Amino acid sequence: MKEQIGVMLSSSEVENRISEMAAAIDKAYEGKTIHLIGILKGSVFFMCELAKRMKSPVTMDFMSVSSYGDGTKSSGIVKLNKDLDESIEGKDVIIVEDILDSGRTLSYLVKLLGERKPASLEVVTLLDKPDRRVIPVDLYMTGFEIPDRFVVGYGLDCAQKYRNLPYIGVIEQ
Ligand code: XMP
Ligand code: MG
Repeated sequence: MKEQIGVMLSSSEVENRISEMAAAIDKAYEGKTIHLIGILKGSVFFMCELAKRMKSPVTMDFMSVSSYGDGTKSSGIVKLNKDLDESIEGKDVIIVEDILDSGRTLSYLVKLLGERKPASLEVVTLLDKPDRRVIPVDLYMTGFEIPDRFVVGYGLDCAQKYRNLPYIGVIEQ
């Protein structure tokens, strides 16, 4: 059966919110170079849109972890697939992630990167599903709190599909 995608958050809603987030980060980090760490692959669209709107000097690196299989169920285990290219020692680091769900991925990353002596370490996500939290994570900022629905688009996938949708959608069977 062909999947129908409903719109949860339109392109303009997402983009307006990202502009607000970029301005708030610039204000809080005034005078600092911000080292953005994008978590592949889901964060890529959000990371680009956020970075494009930031006026602070920005450097970037990427990491890849997996906690989900190919479907919509968590495996519960976080695996490091690709580490950073550069050291983060002494840098003002912001981890940029698509969505905070159970908290397993981000709590693993905060612990791992926190041990590498960054000057500061914060987490920013486009989406937050607070109802699903298993492990608490301190979010510096999130774009939207959303209900417990599996979402796609803006980098988020279902079995690698739909990442390129320019809005946040929900799959309606
Ligand atoms: P945890 O549970 O570790 O999950 O906080 C974070 C990762 O799980 C993926 N995830 C989703 N991916 N639609 C997706 O496409 C969703 O609704 C969803 N919820 C969680 C995502 O990769 C995220 O980085
Ligand atoms: Mg992800």
